[in-house]
Amino acid sequence: MVIAVYPGSFDPIHNGHIDVIERAARIFDRVIVALANNDAKTPCFSLEERRLMAGEALKEFSNVETDILNGLLIDYVQAKGAGVVVRGLRAVSDFEYEFQMALMNRRLGGEIETFFLIPSEDHTFISSRLVKEVARLGGDVGSFVPPHVERELIKKLL
Ligand code: PNS
Repeated sequence: MVIAVYPGSFDPIHNGHIDVIERAARIFDRVIVALANNDAKTPCFSLEERRLMAGEALKEFSNVETDILNGLLIDYVQAKGAGVVVRGLRAVSDFEYEFQMALMNRRLGGEIETFFLIPSEDHTFISSRLVKEVARLGGDVGSFVPPHVERELIKKLL
């Protein structure tokens, strides 16, 4: 039984994240989508709001669950008995940050491997930051996020 943790801000979850989760759910027995605060970002939605949106978006996947991660990722992963951290890689520009995090986590966590998944090219340009910017300026984000997330974005930002 291989348990994978997919950590992230998910502020909010978008179709690129869902694509990565769908791929992870086909590979691993159980996938925990762990919502966390990233010290480098100011979130728009609370962790609980983000978890609700993610839970609704992922309800069709029987081996995927959501959780809130406080503290060090590697401690969380070990506490869950997971062997793998999943991260999405959209472009070369993601690589440096992901490489640094993966090596830091390896140094801290020993046996845990980071597993990178590439979303469909239809989604590689989508980021939560851009989705929020477009929504805030009144643009249509309907093809980047599920309908319930679009509604929450409009409610929060407009
Ligand atoms: O979606 P993001 O913002 O790129 O996700 C970053 C996240 C949440 C995975 C990262 O900030 C994280 O792991 N936070 C938990 C605290 C931690 O372990 N920090 C050290 C990471 S090397």
